[in-house]
Order: sequence, then C-alpha cells, then structure tokens
Amino acid sequence: MIEISLKECMERVDHYIHQIADYPVKQSQVGAVLNDALNLSGKMLRPKLLLLCAFLGSNWKSNKERICKLAAMVELIHLASLIHDDIVDDSPYRRGEISIQGKYGKDAAVFAGDFLISRIFNFGAVENLNEAVSVLSKTVEYMCIGEIEQDLCHYREDMSEDKYFEIIEKKTAALFQAACHIGAKEAGCPDRIVRKLELFVKNLGLMFQLKDDILDFTSNSKDLGKETLKDFQNGIYTFPVIMTLKNPKGKEVLLPIMRKNREEKLSNEEIRQVQAYIVQFGGIEASYEKIKQLSDDNRQLIKELEQDVKITVYLEKMLNDLEVKK
Ligand code: FPP
Ligand code: MG
Repeated sequence: MIEISLKECMERVDHYIHQIADYPVKQSQVGAVLNDALNLSGKMLRPKLLLLCAFLGSNWKSNKERICKLAAMVELIHLASLIHDDIVDDSPYRRGEISIQGKYGKDAAVFAGDFLISRIFNFGAVENLNEAVSVLSKTVEYMCIGEIEQDLCHYREDMSEDKYFEIIEKKTAALFQAACHIGAKEAGCPDRIVRKLELFVKNLGLMFQLKDDILDFTSNSKDLGKETLKDFQNGIYTFPVIMTLKNPKGKEVLLPIMRKNREEKLSNEEIRQVQAYIVQFGGIEASYEKIKQLSDDNRQLIKELEQDVKITVYLEKMLNDLEVKK
C-alpha cells in the first residue's frame, strides 16, 4: 500500500521537477545543463522522506498534489546546491558522470544553479505554497551559512567536533528537516508528531553526512560516482579526521601532513598515507560509533512514533542502511 502510494507520488514529483526546471530557451547552454542534471537523478531521499512524513497525516490524500509539488521543490533545492557545491570543490564527477561544472564550466553551472533557485521559489509563490516557501527560503539561508562556515574552517587543525556538527546540521540536516516539516504540516500531522519526526530526520541527515564523510576515505570514485579524498586535500577536515587527531599516535603522524597540506599539494603517496592513518588510528571506527549513537536515538523516536507501523519500518530500514560498514 505504502509502496504504491510512494511510487504514484514520485511520478507526480518527477512531473513537477520537470515543470519547475523547464528552461524556455532550449538551444541555450543552460537548457542543456538542466537537461543533463535532471537526467542523472540520485536516490531522491529528501522527497521520499517528505512523502513518508506526509503519509502520517490524516489529510495527505486531499493535499496530495500540493505535497508532491513541495517534494519537487525540495529535490531541486538539493540539486541546485550540488551544482554549486561542485563549483566550490572543483569536483570533476557527480553521480557517476562528469559534473556540470566539469562538463560545461563554472559560469554555466552558476547560471543553472541560480536559475533553478529562482524558479523553485517563484513556483512556490505562484502555487500558493507560502508557508513552505518561508521554511525553504530560511533553509537555503542555513545551507549557505553552513557552506560559508565550512569555508572559514579550511585547513584548521583545531577543528572541533562541535563545530563540525554545527556545520553539517546547517549544510545537510537542515534540508532533511525542512522536507519532513513541510510534508507533515501540509498533511495535517499534529505538532507533537511533527516535532518528533523533525528530530528523527535531523539525526538522519547528520548520519547521512557522517557516512558521506566516512566513504570519502574508505570507498572509491567508481563506487561513489564522485572523486574521493577530495575534502582532505581541500582542507575540509571532517569527523574521521577530527577523531584521528584525538588519538595521540594519530595526531603525531597526521598533523605534519595537515600542515604541509596547507602550504602545498600533497603527493599521491601522502594522500594514501592519510587514508591509512585515518583507518589505523580509529577515525573511521569512531565515526561509525557516532552513527550508531544517532541511530539508537532514532530507534527510540521510532518507538514513540509507532503510529503507522508500515511507515516506521521504512524509517528503520534507512537507519540500517546507514549503519552498514562498507
Ligand atoms: C554536499 O555536501 C553539499 C551540501 C550538503 C550543501 C551545499 C550547499 C550550498 C552550495 C549552499 C546552498 C546553495 C544553493 C544553490 C541551494 P559535501 O560537500 O559534504 O559532499 P560531496 O562529497 O558530495 O561534495
Ligand atoms: Mg562537497
């Protein structure tokens, strides 16, 4: 039942995504950029979460089209943020293909991201989705602040756990949280449930970013569809690095490389060493422990949420997937 509703709604979401992103001047480069970007859809986690949260409300069926429009807006905000993030990171790949900035250059990528953002909010205003427009515009502000704060922390050896979580809460978890909030509210979920769902989804967003930061060290470009070990080289020191530095032996070997990284480009051998140290001195293990803690908090929230068992099974599956060590 849930599967059918989700599938049906996702078809509508896809329809609205194309409607919002439709660029009128087809022969322009921005048109080609958007075409490419839409053809490479990701896991669609945020719109799916929005829909699952909406399914918990009593009037989701009567508000179905509005809810699908909101889910499309959320996915496109995510897409625009990735297009811009790849410019900042100078990333050559995304979702297993050459990134937009890699294929079309930075100017076209900036234009496409800007165009998408303006279309998303115009769509929300025209469709009278005013409450969601207010929540989502604040969320984009948080995402921008997260990125700006991350930029301010570049190459900082004293990057703290608290600062890391402050940044990822804004750059990643905020959009998860907003998706859940607007979906649940639009479907008429009681405030008590909305608050619990928001907490669940915020934790899920943090877990998701932690996993992304682990995989940057443990996976490979082919499996991830994007370049690995890039954050460290760009001076973005994530949780696995912070935790490795907490181990005195880890600090002894990693700190000199971090100092060098600030001054010059590391050799391939040095990058391989960084990767090995982060595994050897507990950075990855500690990151998985943090995921487990957040997951346990979320299991408790699921118990409290046990309103609609079928949906909580879905939420539980998302936790299990993130906990898998690979
Ligand atoms: C990917 O994370 C990027 C984000 C979670 C947020 C990016 C946000 C912005 C660029 C600001 C908002 C801008 C717009 C247009 C809405 P990551 O860099 O940790 O992961 P990666 O490995 O995929 O690059
Ligand atoms: Mg990035």
